[in-house]
Amino acid sequence: MNTGPFSEFKLKDIYLKNRFVRSATWEGMATETGEVTPKLIKLMEDLARGEVGLIITGHAYVDPIGQASPWQLGVHRDELISSLEKIPQAVHKFGSKVFLQIAHSGIFAFNLEKKPGLGPSPLDIHSDFRSAKGVGMTKKDIKEVITKFGEAALRAKKAGFDGIQIHAAHGYLLSQFLSPYFNKRNDEYGGDIRARSKLVLEVYQRIREMVDDFPVIIKLNAQDFLDPGMSFDEMLYVSKLLEENGIDGIEMSGGTLISKEFIPSRTKKIAKKVGEIYYMEHALRFKQKTQVPLILVGGIRRFNVCEKLISKGVCDLISMSRPFIREPYLIRRWKQGDLRDALCESDNLCFKPALMGEGIYCYLEKKIGKNKEKTIC
Ligand SMILES: Cc1cc2nc3c(=O)[nH]c(=O)nc-3n(C[C@H](O)[C@H](O)[C@H](O)COP(=O)(O)O)c2cc1C
Repeated sequence: MNTGPFSEFKLKDIYLKNRFVRSATWEGMATETGEVTPKLIKLMEDLARGEVGLIITGHAYVDPIGQASPWQLGVHRDELISSLEKIPQAVHKFGSKVFLQIAHSGIFAFNLEKKPGLGPSPLDIHSDFRSAKGVGMTKKDIKEVITKFGEAALRAKKAGFDGIQIHAAHGYLLSQFLSPYFNKRNDEYGGDIRARSKLVLEVYQRIREMVDDFPVIIKLNAQDFLDPGMSFDEMLYVSKLLEENGIDGIEMSGGTLISKEFIPSRTKKIAKKVGEIYYMEHALRFKQKTQVPLILVGGIRRFNVCEKLISKGVCDLISMSRPFIREPYLIRRWKQGDLRDALCESDNLCFKPALMGEGIYCYLEKKIGKNKEKTIC
């Protein structure tokens, strides 16, 4: 039996043609009102043509007040379904699968009306990387958010996606509820991890009610790198809870928008062998505790590393974000026998063009000139 990175994987009842996942990546390529654009479709096609087994879209907001970034994909109204369905149509032509990541930014709101964002507790944060002002959510707000996640999941199903991913990582709303740094509530949604995970569980349960046996996975932080932040033991608690409730997969990431240099993906370059696979130790412990398929993301750049991760059972699926910005055809290159490391230098300059409205691309590559031999497909 082939158990390498090019082996098939059954996630719930769908077959992924290999173990490679494009981790959710805000592309900055939607319209100002959240619709899909031809540029975004071209990117999705490139990733699928490039043999990525499972593509996860950039985070799509379930409510305009939960929009995180400009030119972000939306999934907050039924009229968007006919636009969203172009994504699975494009991807399925090449035999890949695609999940929509659904999200709410919480206090880190990019909202055009300049209203304070909604969070677990009132907070006013000023950091070099991101400032935020948020009001604490009422019980009514919480109910509405749960409804909005459920409706968004149903829209994704109607649009023909193969599944959805709940974004509960990186300090956005659901991650804010999980984190004692953001969550200072003293009702049933705040306190110990059992209470702090109540909203995540309720969102998941509502999604299940709405989409039945549709594949549903979640992205969680291994830890927040904040003081006080969600610890890894607490992450394991949440994972176990979701496993008992039938989650189909967990992607392990880490850090928040304000974890500064403590978040591994913000420290500039990955030194070969040192600093890669950010959450290796966490993955090993996760696998001892849970049976749910593990999708590992963060700092993975080398084919032989991918081979080891899969053959040793460290994780079930290998997820990458920045390497595919530089090389959407990376997996096809590896499959064809060109096993050189991903060209991505993890410099995070890819955010720059997206913030200027040009959509993500590898800024470094543009500066040094495209290496056609390495990237053409
Ligand atoms: C430009 C950019 C946009 C991102 N957008 C998202 C997103 O929409 N949702 C998400 O969960 N993570 C997002 N991430 C984080 C990545 O999915 C990933 O977790 C992180 O970059 C580490 O993986 P890597 O080392 O393979 O890049 C983004 C990262 C980058 C660089």
